[in-house]
Amino acid sequence: MHGSIGPTELRALGLNPEDLLDFSASISPIGPPDGVWNAIRGVDLSRYPDPECLELRETISRKISITDRQIPIENVIVGNGSTEIFHLIARVYLSKRPVHGTAVLMTPTYGEYEGACRLADARILKCVANLDGDFRWDIDSASKLIEDNKPDIVIVCNPNNPTGVYLSRREIEALADATRDADGLLVIDEAYLAFVEEPWDSLPLLDRPEVMLVRSMTKDYAQTALRLGYALASKDVVARLREFQPDWSVNTLAQRAGVVALNDIAYLPRARAAVFSAKAYLVDQLRSLGLEVPDTEANFILVKVGEAAKWRSLLLAKRFVVRDCTSFGLPEYIRIGILPMGDTKRLAKAIVEIAKSEAH
Ligand SMILES: Cc1ncc(COP(=O)(O)O)c(C=O)c1O
Repeated sequence: MHGSIGPTELRALGLNPEDLLDFSASISPIGPPDGVWNAIRGVDLSRYPDPECLELRETISRKISITDRQIPIENVIVGNGSTEIFHLIARVYLSKRPVHGTAVLMTPTYGEYEGACRLADARILKCVANLDGDFRWDIDSASKLIEDNKPDIVIVCNPNNPTGVYLSRREIEALADATRDADGLLVIDEAYLAFVEEPWDSLPLLDRPEVMLVRSMTKDYAQTALRLGYALASKDVVARLREFQPDWSVNTLAQRAGVVALNDIAYLPRARAAVFSAKAYLVDQLRSLGLEVPDTEANFILVKVGEAAKWRSLLLAKRFVVRDCTSFGLPEYIRIGILPMGDTKRLAKAIVEIAKSEAH
């Protein structure tokens, strides 16, 4: 479970998913692109999916390439959610018998990386961010950790879940240099990049064979149920991952939805505008209550509430789900994904009520 509310807890509370407003997942707030429904309806369910995801890889290549930089389809691998890609990376790079591999994780971060590394029996080393301050990492220490331990892979989430810290090109390049010198692979998870207000272009990093970019189409286009993600890397890295990927792991509904979503060029600007306005409103409301809300560059915010587990329960009683960040090692924080303005206003009102009753 990823901190959302699971079916077992829902049943115990006598609730249905529709009874709740879910701010625990951080996905596009405007629902999937309209064309997705038609595309899905047209799928022949009696046929196997294309195991090569050819049309989708061509579309990814066409849509994300910028004029002077073409990403060939041999450099693209599609996964059953980006989660599948992290598990493939762990199997390929870490499950080496008889000696298991080493992974450096930049933490606190998305728990699935560590889960995948554990399944591969890897040695896991963590570079922990400054948890008492701005949540940034000391990049020199991270580089030293990499140089000293020569990991097979380094994983960094940019912008990071749950802290929203967004590393600069220079910081990422420093990590890439250290990883190259260690003969490893730097995996940059860009699951939330689509919602950074002023992103820098990471595609030129693909000139470096030691870099892989991983992206989630489930979040960008609000289709988490379909499971769709992709990675961009050197042809060799992509070929190695493909060898370990089961055939047909990306179903036809997801492939079709992905093509339609990428072709809908008006969608992301709309989704981004919805995120930016609701996020600004929420941050403003919560800060004016006196709550500490660190700056985040993603489509979620952290709020320092004191006792996160208690706040999650109090909000759940009002039918709102937020992420208790205890499992990230941040028990004083909740994470709130950005939903449309109307829902965000309702959540802000509930938080005001709780803050007032807690103050008494
Ligand atoms: C940082 C990060 N990467 C990847 C994922 C998984 O995304 P997907 O739905 O593409 O598997 C998540 C899901 O919460 C996430 O937070």
